Amino acid sequence: MKLCVIEGDGIGREVVPAAIRVLRRLIPELEVVTAEAGWETFQATGNALPAETVSTALSAKAVLFGACSSPSYPVPGYSSPIVKLRRSMETYANLRPTRYLPVPTARPGVDLVVVRENTEDLYVGDEQTEDAGDTGTATKRITRYATERIAHTAFRLARTEGRRCVTIVHKGNVLPQTDGLFRRVAYEVAKEYPDIETDELLVDTAAYWMVKEPTRFDIVLTPNLYGDILSDMAAAWGGGLGLAPALNLGEEVAVAEPVHGSAPDIAGQGIANPTAVILSAAMLLRHHWRLPAPADKIDAAVNAALSEGDYTADILGVNGMSTADFADLICDKLE
Ligand code: NAI
Ligand code: MG
Repeated sequence: MKLCVIEGDGIGREVVPAAIRVLRRLIPELEVVTAEAGWETFQATGNALPAETVSTALSAKAVLFGACSSPSYPVPGYSSPIVKLRRSMETYANLRPTRYLPVPTARPGVDLVVVRENTEDLYVGDEQTEDAGDTGTATKRITRYATERIAHTAFRLARTEGRRCVTIVHKGNVLPQTDGLFRRVAYEVAKEYPDIETDELLVDTAAYWMVKEPTRFDIVLTPNLYGDILSDMAAAWGGGLGLAPALNLGEEVAVAEPVHGSAPDIAGQGIANPTAVILSAAMLLRHHWRLPAPADKIDAAVNAALSEGDYTADILGVNGMSTADFADLICDKLE
């Protein structure tokens, strides 16, 4: 088993080593190769995602990615490395689960997965500017091909996890040629899974219900942009960004990454919560390497540590455990 590790920027450099310690405890034979990407890499080399990183990732087939800092203003030659890496590896499905964890900030009963299409929509990166920068236009692309494969992912996941319902989330009333296509194709695929219930919500209504009554959701099947936003909203019910894992899946390739970013406000202090990246590593075990037993062990260890009230500072906003101490505690609880 081989894993390409990309720590990235900011707290990525702190939480990823913590998760590697946990993985190594369970899979001592794991072969780890490291690669560079991110804003610091861009500043040093002029390339945020060097070609060697992509080839290391492709040959390992499994990646654990921390987070990268991306400026919110245009920088010539820079584009988000994680978006590019997902595309280079054709990880077309982004699974973002939110389940109740025993912390005071989480909502009891929440257990949902946002299944986000990961290759198209507004994220194809086709943006133009005209009118001396005063007009910007972006392309939103939805295809039958990509919608079919993400819909199959959602319904297959519903079956393997014994889930009841897939909710298609879209804005087909305003965007009939793009979101309307997504909706239509998703319903076609649904016919192949008569044992799973299917319903739909417009994305604005979905956002309302995600805030008001998150326990009504089971699997949310949605295009790229809505999935990005709704999964961050859902993460609030899971106890916060420090606890929210994600996995990008392709054909025999996977990139595990926490939902959170590089958290420059707390980077370098050794206080970041490593849970999100540890749970992302568990998803890699479960869905990519198909090793549910060690994945279950990680989930149970995280639950046990949190139920005893052992937190990093993001959970209660007061002095908490350090990243390293929390990771040690998880390692102890794996036995
Ligand atoms: P962020 O997720 O980095 O931070 C948001 C807030 O949550 C901050 O207050 C941060 O301290 C806290 N937080 C996040 N993860 C935490 C953890 N593990 N433990 C404790 N507290 C945690 O999002 P923000 O501030 O919007 O973005 C910061 C940078 O990260 C930006 O440059 C952005 O482009 C980048 N980013 C990168 C992502 C990626 O690489 N996948 C995803 C999201 C943002
Ligand atoms: Mg996001």
